[in-house]
Formats: sequence, structure tokens, C-alpha cells
Amino acid sequence: MKNQEITIEAIGKLMDVFYTKIRNDKNGLGDLFNSQIGTSDEEWEHHKAKIASFWEGMLLGSGNYSGQPLKTHIDLPPFPQEFFALWLSLFEESLNVVFTEGPAKAILTRAQMIAQRFQSMIYMHQQS
Ligand code: HEM
Repeated sequence: MKNQEITIEAIGKLMDVFYTKIRNDKNGLGDLFNSQIGTSDEEWEHHKAKIASFWEGMLLGSGNYSGQPLKTHIDLPPFPQEFFALWLSLFEESLNVVFTEGPAKAILTRAQMIAQRFQSMIYMHQQS
């Protein structure tokens, strides 16, 4: 059953579906993540819990996330801007597994806005 409402449980499910796709990605995104996070289940559970609390704060106004997402991404080793489109498409696929259309679209819009902000900061010195 798809979730019609955004709950902590549904966000947890989204993390499982999305990061399974990321971990298994063979287009470069998977390698980048695995090189930063690690390859053990334990390391990935830790990452998923952190990102779940980020989304919980964003979408439900609760959770204990405190971090600097923009700085984290600026500090990553250089990677092609196309990875953002790939990230967003895997995220959209995952949203459509976990949520009905309304919440899926609402969360995707938030992710797109954040991805846009990250890209404008990460690639600001490049000609396009
Ligand atoms: C191509 C796109 C992206 C890549 C390659 C990427 C990669 C990563 C990696 C490797 C980390 C872990 C860094 C570490 O722990 O050392 C991370 C953390 C994180 N990412 Fe992304 N990410 C992308 C897009 C996004 C987007 C669009 C969002 C939000 C909508 C997001 C939210 C976060 C958050 C909240 C963290 C945790 C930051 C912290 O440590 O507090 N990421 N990302």
C-alpha cells in the first residue's frame, strides 16, 4: 500500500528504497556514494538514519538533524553535474514506490529545489 501521508515510517521506507537504488547504481553515482560512505550495511544504515532525520525536519518539522548539507556537497570530490539528474530520477522512482501522487510530487519539488541550490553553488565557477 502506498502512503497517502508523510510519516516517519514512510520516510524510513523511502530511505530503504532510494539508497538501495543508489548503492546498486552502475552509472557512477553508486561508486561515488560507496567511496564516501563505505560498503558495509552498518555504514549505510548510519547514512540512511542521518538523511531520514534531515527529511523528517524538512517535511514534518521534527527530528534531530543538524548538519551542513550544502558544505558537505561542496566538499565532495568533483563529479559531473549530470549526476544530479540521475539522483533526482532515482529519487522520483523511489517516491512513486512509497507514496501516492500527492506527497510524491510535494517531496520531489522540495528535492528539486535543494538540488538546484546545490548545483548553483557547486558549479558556479564553470562555464555552461
Ligand atoms: C548528485 C547528487 C548528490 C550526490 C552525489 C550526493 C552525495 C552525498 C554523499 C556522498 C553524502 C555523504 C557525505 C559524507 O557523509 O561524508 C551526502 C550527504 C548528504 N546529502 Fe547528498 N548527494 C546528492 C544530492 C543530494 C540532494 C539533492 C539532497 C537533498 C535533497 C542531499 C542531501 C544530503 C544530506 C542532508 C546529507 C547529509 C549531510 C551531513 O553530513 O549533514 N543530497 N550526499
